[in-house]
Amino acid sequence: MKNLILLGPPGAGKGTQARTLCEKYGFVQLSTGDMLREAKKDETDLGRKVAGIMAKGELVTDEIVIGLIEKKLTNDENEIGFIFDGFPRTLAQADALGNLLDSIGQSLDHVVELYVDDEKLVQRIIGRFTCSSCGELYHKITKPPENAGICDVCGSKDKFNFRQDDNEDSLKIRLLAYYRDTSPLIGYYHVLNKLRKINGLGSVDEIQNNIRNIIK
Ligand code: AP5
Repeated sequence: MKNLILLGPPGAGKGTQARTLCEKYGFVQLSTGDMLREAKKDETDLGRKVAGIMAKGELVTDEIVIGLIEKKLTNDENEIGFIFDGFPRTLAQADALGNLLDSIGQSLDHVVELYVDDEKLVQRIIGRFTCSSCGELYHKITKPPENAGICDVCGSKDKFNFRQDDNEDSLKIRLLAYYRDTSPLIGYYHVLNKLRKINGLGSVDEIQNNIRNIIK
């Protein structure tokens, strides 16, 4: 089994790469962002609590996200490995992940840092949308659906979703949170000899190949 963290700022391509790796190789994607958005949709207490925080672009508390990951790690059947997408995001979350993996007899194999300059991140985030049926990711300039209004993957003609936090004001706060709270993890995992750096500016396939070379 291989367990992998995809680390990078908003728009670096963590979700895009995680989805493809899961489809191709059977990894299980654990995205705390997706879990929190799911909780918001179901109008749970948790969803109501985090909705405002996420819309502003701030980080949800460590306690909440560690709880979500703990539940998945202890309940999800998996023989290939986990891809952590958007988690951990603070040093406390990184410590908690190490302890959780230990407690289920597993370890972390690699942390892949996707680096992309801020200007490109803004372009990617502001043009992003997803299919509301299957979740496929699109971009209005770099990856529009082949036939306008129809999802390439599932053929759905239902509406496409734009994320509430994908606007310039929230993005500034998300980037600040990344550089302030999450980028210290680069040093943390470097010292543990887990860190691998990949330029996130190539094509989706090029980046995928670079990740594959790391994990094979
Ligand atoms: P989360 O959902 O994790 O969002 P994020 O980290 O801001 O990352 P994004 O999903 O925006 O970007 P991505 O790197 O996945 O890029 P993508 O592949 O989509 O978190 C959202 C919020 O939830 C946080 O702000 C926080 O409030 C809360 N939260 C979540 N986890 C938390 C935690 N652990 N602790 C505390 N709070 C937490 O790509 C972006 C666009 O670029 C797409 O349109 C895509 O098509 C395009 N693209 C991707 N790759 C390429 C490429 N190679 N070339 C051209 N275009 C590309």
